[in-house]
Amino acid sequence: MEGDSGAALQQFARDCANCRRCPLAEGRQQVVVSRGNPRAALMVIGEGPGAQEDATGSPFVGRAGQLLDRMLASVGLESNRDAYICNVVKCRPPDNRKPTPQEMAACMPWLLQQVELVQPKLVLLAGATAVEGVLGIKGGITRLRGQWRPWQGRWCLPIFPPSYLLRNPSREPDTPKWHTWQDLRAVRARLDQLETAPAHAQDSSGAP
Ligand code: URA
Ligand code: URA
Repeated sequence: MEGDSGAALQQFARDCANCRRCPLAEGRQQVVVSRGNPRAALMVIGEGPGAQEDATGSPFVGRAGQLLDRMLASVGLESNRDAYICNVVKCRPPDNRKPTPQEMAACMPWLLQQVELVQPKLVLLAGATAVEGVLGIKGGITRLRGQWRPWQGRWCLPIFPPSYLLRNPSREPDTPKWHTWQDLRAVRARLDQLETAPAHAQDSSGAP
Protein backbone atom coordinates (compact mmCIF):
# COMPACT_ATOMS: atom_id res chain seq x y z
CA MET A 1 0.00 0.00 0.00
CA GLU A 2 2.60 2.42 1.16
CA GLY A 3 4.84 1.51 -1.76
CA ASP A 4 1.94 2.03 -4.13
CA SER A 5 1.09 5.44 -2.78
CA GLY A 6 4.78 6.37 -2.85
CA ALA A 7 4.93 5.43 -6.52
CA ALA A 8 1.71 7.34 -7.16
CA LEU A 9 3.17 10.45 -5.51
CA GLN A 10 6.33 10.18 -7.58
CA GLN A 11 4.31 9.83 -10.74
CA PHE A 12 2.22 12.80 -9.64
CA ALA A 13 5.34 14.95 -9.19
CA ARG A 14 6.59 13.92 -12.66
CA ASP A 15 3.23 14.78 -14.21
CA CYS A 16 3.25 18.19 -12.51
CA ALA A 17 6.80 18.85 -13.72
CA ASN A 18 5.62 18.46 -17.32
CA CYS A 19 2.53 20.64 -16.94
CA ARG A 20 1.93 23.37 -19.52
CA ARG A 21 -1.75 24.01 -18.81
CA CYS A 22 -1.33 27.74 -18.14
CA PRO A 23 1.02 30.62 -18.99
CA LEU A 24 2.85 30.37 -15.64
CA ALA A 25 4.76 27.45 -17.15
CA GLU A 26 6.69 29.94 -19.33
CA GLY A 27 8.36 31.82 -16.50
CA ARG A 28 9.00 29.11 -13.96
CA GLN A 29 12.31 27.61 -12.94
CA GLN A 30 10.64 24.68 -11.21
CA VAL A 31 7.18 23.36 -10.55
CA VAL A 32 6.70 23.55 -6.80
CA VAL A 33 4.69 20.48 -5.83
CA SER A 34 4.98 19.91 -2.07
CA ARG A 35 7.07 19.38 0.98
CA GLY A 36 6.36 17.54 4.20
CA ASN A 37 4.72 14.24 4.99
CA PRO A 38 2.20 12.79 2.49
CA ARG A 39 0.73 10.70 5.32
CA ALA A 40 0.14 13.70 7.59
CA ALA A 41 -3.38 14.44 8.82
CA LEU A 42 -2.88 18.15 8.13
CA MET A 43 -2.53 19.79 4.71
CA VAL A 44 -1.46 23.42 4.38
CA ILE A 45 -2.39 25.16 1.12
CA GLY A 46 -0.86 28.52 0.24
CA GLU A 47 -1.30 30.84 -2.71
CA GLY A 48 1.65 30.05 -4.90
CA PRO A 49 5.45 29.87 -5.01
CA GLY A 50 7.65 32.92 -4.51
CA ALA A 51 11.21 33.43 -5.70
CA GLN A 52 12.88 31.05 -3.26
CA GLU A 53 10.25 28.39 -3.77
CA ASP A 54 10.68 28.69 -7.56
CA ALA A 55 14.45 28.38 -7.18
CA THR A 56 14.40 25.41 -4.77
CA GLY A 57 11.25 23.56 -5.90
CA SER A 58 9.87 23.47 -2.34
CA PRO A 59 6.86 25.43 -1.02
CA PHE A 60 7.13 27.82 1.91
CA VAL A 61 10.91 27.82 2.27
CA GLY A 62 11.48 31.59 2.22
CA ARG A 63 10.94 33.99 5.11
CA ALA A 64 7.19 33.39 5.16
CA GLY A 65 7.75 29.64 5.18
CA GLN A 66 10.17 29.87 8.06
CA LEU A 67 7.57 31.80 10.03
CA LEU A 68 4.97 29.17 9.14
CA ASP A 69 7.32 26.53 10.54
CA ARG A 70 7.76 28.48 13.77
CA MET A 71 4.03 29.06 14.13
CA LEU A 72 3.32 25.34 13.66
CA ALA A 73 6.10 24.51 16.10
CA SER A 74 4.48 26.80 18.68
CA VAL A 75 1.59 24.30 18.85
CA GLY A 76 3.89 21.30 18.77
CA LEU A 77 3.66 20.53 15.05
CA GLU A 78 6.83 19.90 13.04
CA SER A 79 6.09 21.07 9.50
CA ASN A 80 7.82 18.30 7.57
CA ARG A 81 6.61 15.51 9.87
CA ASP A 82 3.11 16.66 10.82
CA ALA A 83 2.01 18.49 7.69
CA TYR A 84 1.91 18.21 3.94
CA ILE A 85 2.45 21.65 2.41
CA CYS A 86 1.48 22.80 -1.07
CA ASN A 87 -0.05 25.71 -3.01
CA VAL A 88 -3.09 26.56 -5.13
CA VAL A 89 -0.81 27.27 -8.11
CA LYS A 90 2.36 25.27 -8.48
CA CYS A 91 4.34 27.73 -10.62
CA ARG A 92 5.51 31.18 -9.58
CA PRO A 93 3.44 34.10 -10.84
CA PRO A 94 5.75 36.83 -12.24
CA ASP A 95 6.67 39.52 -9.69
CA ASN A 96 4.72 37.55 -7.06
CA ARG A 97 1.44 38.87 -8.41
CA LYS A 98 -1.74 37.11 -7.38
CA PRO A 99 -2.54 34.14 -9.63
CA THR A 100 -5.44 34.82 -11.99
CA PRO A 101 -8.71 32.89 -11.70
CA GLN A 102 -7.77 31.14 -14.97
CA GLU A 103 -4.40 30.07 -13.57
CA MET A 104 -5.98 28.82 -10.36
CA ALA A 105 -8.64 26.91 -12.33
CA ALA A 106 -5.99 25.37 -14.60
CA CYS A 107 -4.03 24.15 -11.58
CA MET A 108 -7.02 22.91 -9.55
CA PRO A 109 -7.04 19.36 -10.99
CA TRP A 110 -3.52 18.95 -9.59
CA LEU A 111 -4.61 20.08 -6.14
CA LEU A 112 -7.62 17.78 -6.21
CA GLN A 113 -5.38 14.88 -7.17
CA GLN A 114 -3.06 15.83 -4.32
CA VAL A 115 -5.94 15.72 -1.83
CA GLU A 116 -6.91 12.28 -3.16
CA LEU A 117 -3.36 11.00 -2.74
CA VAL A 118 -2.73 12.49 0.70
CA GLN A 119 -6.23 12.21 2.21
CA PRO A 120 -5.69 14.91 4.84
CA LYS A 121 -8.13 15.12 7.72
CA LEU A 122 -7.86 18.91 8.06
CA VAL A 123 -6.77 21.63 5.68
CA LEU A 124 -5.34 25.07 6.45
CA LEU A 125 -5.90 27.71 3.77
CA ALA A 126 -3.17 30.31 4.15
CA GLY A 127 -4.55 33.61 2.91
CA ALA A 128 -7.45 35.07 0.97
CA THR A 129 -6.16 33.88 -2.40
CA ALA A 130 -5.94 30.29 -1.19
CA VAL A 131 -9.51 30.61 0.14
CA GLU A 132 -10.68 32.04 -3.18
CA GLY A 133 -8.90 29.39 -5.24
CA VAL A 134 -10.03 26.43 -3.14
CA LEU A 135 -13.47 27.43 -1.87
CA GLY A 136 -14.44 30.04 -4.45
CA ILE A 137 -15.17 32.49 -1.64
CA LYS A 138 -13.91 36.04 -2.04
CA GLY A 139 -13.30 38.23 0.95
CA GLY A 140 -10.78 39.68 3.30
CA ILE A 141 -8.84 37.15 5.33
CA THR A 142 -9.54 39.17 8.48
CA ARG A 143 -13.19 38.22 8.11
CA LEU A 144 -12.68 34.68 6.77
CA ARG A 145 -10.03 33.39 9.16
CA GLY A 146 -10.99 31.12 12.00
CA GLN A 147 -14.22 29.88 10.38
CA TRP A 148 -14.24 26.20 9.51
CA ARG A 149 -15.57 25.38 6.04
CA PRO A 150 -16.29 22.04 4.40
CA TRP A 151 -14.38 21.08 1.24
CA GLN A 152 -13.95 17.72 -0.47
CA GLY A 153 -15.39 15.88 2.53
CA ARG A 154 -13.04 17.47 5.04
CA TRP A 155 -12.84 20.62 7.11
CA CYS A 156 -10.77 23.63 6.07
CA LEU A 157 -9.69 26.54 8.19
CA PRO A 158 -8.68 29.85 6.60
CA ILE A 159 -5.77 31.54 8.40
CA PHE A 160 -3.71 34.67 7.87
CA PRO A 161 -0.92 33.98 5.38
CA PRO A 162 2.53 34.05 7.00
CA SER A 163 3.61 36.81 4.58
CA TYR A 164 0.97 39.02 6.23
CA LEU A 165 2.22 38.08 9.68
CA LEU A 166 5.73 39.13 8.67
CA ARG A 167 4.35 42.61 8.08
CA ASN A 168 2.33 42.51 11.31
CA PRO A 169 4.72 41.03 13.83
CA SER A 170 3.02 42.05 17.09
CA ARG A 171 1.88 39.16 19.27
CA GLU A 172 -0.35 41.32 21.48
CA PRO A 173 -3.96 40.14 22.00
CA ASP A 174 -6.27 40.64 19.00
CA THR A 175 -3.44 41.07 16.50
CA PRO A 176 -3.23 38.86 13.38
CA LYS A 177 -0.45 36.78 14.91
CA TRP A 178 -2.42 36.27 18.11
CA HIS A 179 -5.47 35.17 16.10
CA THR A 180 -3.32 32.81 14.06
CA TRP A 181 -2.02 31.25 17.23
CA GLN A 182 -5.62 30.72 18.41
CA ASP A 183 -6.47 29.16 15.04
CA LEU A 184 -3.47 26.84 15.19
CA ARG A 185 -4.31 25.82 18.74
CA ALA A 186 -7.80 24.89 17.54
CA VAL A 187 -6.24 22.84 14.74
CA ARG A 188 -3.93 21.11 17.17
CA ALA A 189 -6.84 20.25 19.47
CA ARG A 190 -8.84 18.87 16.55
CA LEU A 191 -5.89 16.78 15.35
CA ASP A 192 -5.46 15.33 18.83
CA GLN A 193 -9.18 14.53 18.93
CA LEU A 194 -9.04 12.79 15.54
CA GLU A 195 -6.11 10.71 16.71
CA THR A 196 -7.84 9.44 19.83
CA ALA A 197 -11.44 9.17 18.61
CA PRO A 198 -12.65 5.77 17.37
CA ALA A 199 -13.37 5.88 13.64
CA HIS A 200 -17.16 5.62 14.08
CA ALA A 201 -17.13 8.74 16.27
CA GLN A 202 -15.46 10.83 13.57
CA ASP A 203 -18.63 12.02 11.94
CA SER A 204 -18.44 15.00 9.67
CA SER A 205 -21.79 16.53 10.53
CA GLY A 206 -20.53 19.38 12.65
CA ALA A 207 -17.61 21.72 12.28
CA PRO A 208 -14.80 20.96 14.69
N1 URA B 1 3.58 31.91 0.20
C1 URA B 1 2.76 30.99 -0.34
O1 URA B 1 1.56 31.15 -0.41
N2 URA B 1 3.32 29.85 -0.81
C2 URA B 1 4.63 29.60 -0.74
O2 URA B 1 5.04 28.52 -1.18
C3 URA B 1 5.46 30.57 -0.16
C4 URA B 1 4.91 31.72 0.30
N1 URA C 1 6.25 34.00 15.62
C1 URA C 1 7.55 34.35 15.52
O1 URA C 1 7.90 35.35 14.89
N2 URA C 1 8.45 33.59 16.12
C2 URA C 1 8.12 32.47 16.81
O2 URA C 1 9.00 31.81 17.31
C3 URA C 1 6.75 32.11 16.89
C4 URA C 1 5.84 32.89 16.29
